[in-house]
Amino acid sequence: MDSIAYVNGSFVPLSDAKVSVLDRGFLFADGIYEVSAVLDGKLVDNASHLARLERSVGEIKLKLPETVGRITEIQKELIARNKLANGLVYLQVTRGADTGRDFPFPKGDVKSSLVMFTSEKDIVNAVSAKTGINVITVPDIRWERRDIKSVALLAQVLAKQAAAEAGAGEAWMLEDGFVTEGGSSTAFIVTQDDVIVTRQNSNAILPGCTRKAVMALAEERQLRVEERAFTVAEALAAKEAFITSASSFVQPVVAIDGKQVGGGKPGPMATRLREIYVEFAKATGV
Ligand code: PDD
Repeated sequence: MDSIAYVNGSFVPLSDAKVSVLDRGFLFADGIYEVSAVLDGKLVDNASHLARLERSVGEIKLKLPETVGRITEIQKELIARNKLANGLVYLQVTRGADTGRDFPFPKGDVKSSLVMFTSEKDIVNAVSAKTGINVITVPDIRWERRDIKSVALLAQVLAKQAAAEAGAGEAWMLEDGFVTEGGSSTAFIVTQDDVIVTRQNSNAILPGCTRKAVMALAEERQLRVEERAFTVAEALAAKEAFITSASSFVQPVVAIDGKQVGGGKPGPMATRLREIYVEFAKATGV
């Protein structure tokens, strides 16, 4: 059965959910997106995602067509209408459809377009969380404002396709000899003396919501966290590696470019952080 999507004020079957070919998201990737996890029917860390949405749209001078409060209501209604227990809510806002294809912003009163849909995914019981995933490395060919959660994802599409063809679960992108982040996740390592290392936020990476929550949860537990860039060589010499994202929570990485990390098995730190995050997600969902 068709799930229900939201398109500019209406709840419609997904197969009927359509926007204009003149939509600037379609023509120019002139839009922003967010992905929030749903656990036991509740949104996980959603305020953090909507705060990042507000920041992203601000950076590209795009006005949200609804308040964040209303967007939250729509997300919840969509979860209810789809009876979604575990999965993801995808949300996309674009600069709307003008009367033709013109690069500058529309001059008239063109309303931005808001689209949402859901997908089912059992993130908590994902097999890959137990086995860990392999990652491959690819050059980071993206633009210089990766802090903006833009729908322009071609570089990530190509990176993740290369990973899929190599039988890997994620691609880590490299720039100037350092890992920036995963195609759709934040990259972490755990050093031999148990320091959790992840790259500092900057224009070079997306400020991950899961990254932020995991770091705060780790620090609350007196675990040592360091924000700095790391190389693949460091990752291979590390005790553990893992990724974080709304769609995977915390996932151990057990190999990079076919070379084992942490003995090729999920490590205790990634396993513990995953448990802690799931506990947090269950306790704070709305
Ligand atoms: N991706 N880095 C990139 C490039 C991402 O696309 C994502 C999320 C993350 C992790 O961010 P968060 O923890 O807030 O999900 C980091 C989403 C899940 C996606 O594109 O599907």
